Amino acid sequence: MSSTPAQSAVEAFDAVDLIKAKRDGRSLSTPEIDWLISRYANGYVGDEQMAAMAMAIFLNGMERTEIRDMTLAMIASGERMNFDGLGKVTVDKHSTGGVGDKITLPLMPLVASFGVAVPQLSGRGLGHTGGTLDKLEAIPGWRAELSNEEMFTLLQEIGGVICAAGAGLAPADKKLYALRDITGTVECIPLIASSIMSKKIAEGTDSLVLDVKFGSGSFMGDIERSRALAETMVALGEDAGVRTSALLTNMNVPLGLAIGNANEVRESVEVLAGGGPADVVELTVELAREMLRLAGKPDADVEGALKNGAAMDVWRRWVSAQDGDPDGALPVAREMHEVRADRDGVLVRQEALPFGIAAWRLGAGRARKQDPVIHAAGIDLVAKPGDTVKKGDVLFTLSAEDAARFPRALDALEGAYEIGDAGSEILTGGPLIAGRVGAE
Ligand code: URA
Repeated sequence: MSSTPAQSAVEAFDAVDLIKAKRDGRSLSTPEIDWLISRYANGYVGDEQMAAMAMAIFLNGMERTEIRDMTLAMIASGERMNFDGLGKVTVDKHSTGGVGDKITLPLMPLVASFGVAVPQLSGRGLGHTGGTLDKLEAIPGWRAELSNEEMFTLLQEIGGVICAAGAGLAPADKKLYALRDITGTVECIPLIASSIMSKKIAEGTDSLVLDVKFGSGSFMGDIERSRALAETMVALGEDAGVRTSALLTNMNVPLGLAIGNANEVRESVEVLAGGGPADVVELTVELAREMLRLAGKPDADVEGALKNGAAMDVWRRWVSAQDGDPDGALPVAREMHEVRADRDGVLVRQEALPFGIAAWRLGAGRARKQDPVIHAAGIDLVAKPGDTVKKGDVLFTLSAEDAARFPRALDALEGAYEIGDAGSEILTGGPLIAGRVGAE
């Protein structure tokens, strides 16, 4: 960064002029965007001005060139990692987030077991979607914070790493994302695409597979908006020289049976042991195939590596390398509450968003960045859409440290699932994987 607020050199632009330009629907030029982002990062442009700009972008959108400039300016606000010295191809995955989405946990060791390097820089959750680091911190001793040197060593020796993105990576995005979170400007394709891709490009991966969610439990909602987001992100990646593709995946129904932290780790270990719920296995396998295809290994026997212990072996070595105990007992909640079927029939509907909100209210997620998560809290589903149930069967179990949390979680689940007559249509909102964008 060239100047600080105290230096106040003659400035090339004025924030108010740029806000008015975007408010009135004009495109911003490359020098204007570079100036705006660098001056926001160093504090010369204030939060109130950037909030107005974010809202103007939210309302009026951005041209493709503006989104590219925004992404590059956010990358330039911080460090850029470089794994060239590794001698291995690097490939990463990013998910736009969903309920029960623990795929990173089995996916990283699975892909790494084929000799490519997977630098997975992850975040913590806010709101109803869980964060990968929060889930992994349920493992006794496991450490999320690594130095760049440790990351490099793990990638070299084990082939994969999942750790916290350091403060040096796209700091302008960190500031802007926090501001968007409290100003109603999150759900905006130019801002989401530049935010996600600035971090992924700065991370220095050769290839990237995006898991872009659609459906009620995703933040984009309908599939067409998810496709538009995917296309924007794929173009940003390709422009920056990162081989990028996206899968459009269904988030109308929770993924797997576990929603929480410790229980999602348990389910991930089941997948690594060759079992686990069919939808989690399917998505893990398809994302692994796509990552390995981009990394030049299209014929890898991905399912074989789950069945023969190769992926599990990487998981165990990797958990230990980050100070976790792969055999350590995961936390179990003090209080449980079972919800049972009130009639015979078929489970026809199970909505992701209310289940995500309920798990969050049980303590599995945080309402404010500084809140702790309760690793043992969450929901374990027993029935999934399409399953036949009998009156009195357990549909799902809520877990919490304090039973006082159950009523509000149950309020969130009011109307969130439905038992119909045998033969009723099953309402999952489409297939699990609805399409691919990019990297033909
Ligand atoms: N995740 C991000 O990193 N940025 C966004 O804008 C949305 C999701």
